This record gives sequence, C-alpha cells and structure tokens, in this order.
Amino acid sequence: MADPPAAPDVSKGYLDLLGDSPDADASPKNTGAIQAVWASGLGSMLYDNAQAFARKLIGAWQLPVEWLDIPAGGTALDVGSGPGNVTASLARAAGPDGLALGVDISEPMLARAVKAEAGPNVGFLRADAQRLPFRDETFDAVTSLAVLQLIPDPQAALSEIARVLKPGGRVAIMVPTAGRGGQLLRLLPNGGVHFFTEDELGDAFEDLGLTGVRTKTLANIQWVRARKP
Ligand SMILES: C[S@@+](CC[C@H](N)C(=O)[O-])C[C@H]1O[C@@H](n2cnc3c(N)ncnc32)[C@H](O)[C@@H]1O
Repeated sequence: MADPPAAPDVSKGYLDLLGDSPDADASPKNTGAIQAVWASGLGSMLYDNAQAFARKLIGAWQLPVEWLDIPAGGTALDVGSGPGNVTASLARAAGPDGLALGVDISEPMLARAVKAEAGPNVGFLRADAQRLPFRDETFDAVTSLAVLQLIPDPQAALSEIARVLKPGGRVAIMVPTAGRGGQLLRLLPNGGVHFFTEDELGDAFEDLGLTGVRTKTLANIQWVRARKP
C-alpha cells in the first residue's frame, strides 16, 4: 500500500480506508440514482443476481481472463469489484501463491463480496477508484467492469489504473455504451451514468502511454484492453 493506515479497520472483513478518514471526502462523489442503488442492500442483492445470470448467458459480459495473462503467483486488482466474483476469477488465474484485490466504495457490495469470495488469496478494500491506495507498479493485471460510467472523474480513475499497473501488465475495462442513441441519451436524465463515446476510453488509454489499445463494442457493451509498456 502507498500509505498503510496506522490502525487498520478490518472489522467488516474488508479493509475500510474510507470510514472516518479525511480522505473520504477527497474525491468527487456520484450522487446519482444508479450509484445510490448499488450502495443499497437491496440494490446490491439485485445486481449480484443479475450479473451472475448475465455472465452465464451473455458472452459480452465475460471477463477475458486468459488474455490478461496473469502469471502464477502474480497480483491483480479489480476496480469497482461489486459482488467480487470477477475478483475471485482473477485470484484463480493467479493461483494459490497469487493475490487478487477488489476495491469498491459500496459497503453492501463489499459485504456480499467478503461473504461469497474472500479467501487466502482474495481480499477486498473500501476505497475510491479515483485515489487508489496502492504504490506505483504493483499489479500484473487490472480490471474494471461496469464501473467507469459511474465515476465522476473517470480520467482520474484511468490514471490511477495506469499508475498501479506494472510495466508489461495488462488492463481490461468494460463499460455500457449508449450505442447509436448516444447523442440523444446524453441529453436525457441519466441517473448519474456517463455514456462514453466510441473512442473516448481508447484515446484516454493512449494518452496515458498504454500500448496495444484494443476496443470492441458488442451491442451496448464496450471492452477496452491495453498493456503498459
Ligand atoms: C455495476 S457494479 C459492477 C460491479 C462489478 N465490477 C461487476 O462487473 O460485477 C458498479 C460498482 O462500482 C462501484 N463504484 C462506483 N463508483 C466507485 C468508485 N468511485 N470507486 C470504487 N468503486 C466504485 C459501485 O459501488 C458498484 O459496486
């Protein structure tokens, strides 16, 4: 960690770095309706069930875990880990000597993740994607699925992801897109969700110096993958 807490709060099964910390207010907050749902007990339960169903049935939802090429004993980070099953699949790829960490701001999501997925090589932290609590060049792979659209300053989160990735490390991001209705949807109330334009995230990765940037849009989902040179 970049700045380990003197008295870590792990009372809920995850390391809470936002509890009483002055850092809790350091980043802009999403006050929209959608994030309010993910921050609630009922919303997190509904999302957990829906994502499990979607990942079984819809190819576009499935993590390209082989492409991430996580070495045995490697480290992986899942930003906005929600119910934690993607984090757990990163841990399986890293093997018993590896480590996968999930970061989220929602306490109900983290509670679900800890209950279902925490283990010897899977752990969770409550922290903001806009200020990741890790040292530079810590992770072999970083994922962030269905999260960036909720982040008030997605550029800050992307910079943080690039910062904590090791040279040679790989990143895969998935966001919902508005498809052809994008321009129209941008004009409507959206519950605090940002709809990225086709090249927005790919361009942002290139601006951060990442290479091999690939984007793939499947219906209303876009994947962006890249490597750190
Ligand atoms: C739609 S869920 C996706 C969860 C998981 N990545 C998945 O694919 O199943 C979005 C998650 O992003 C989290 N989130 C939103 N803003 C965040 C932020 N600034 N930092 C960390 N997590 C955030 C929400 O709390 C929620 O758990």
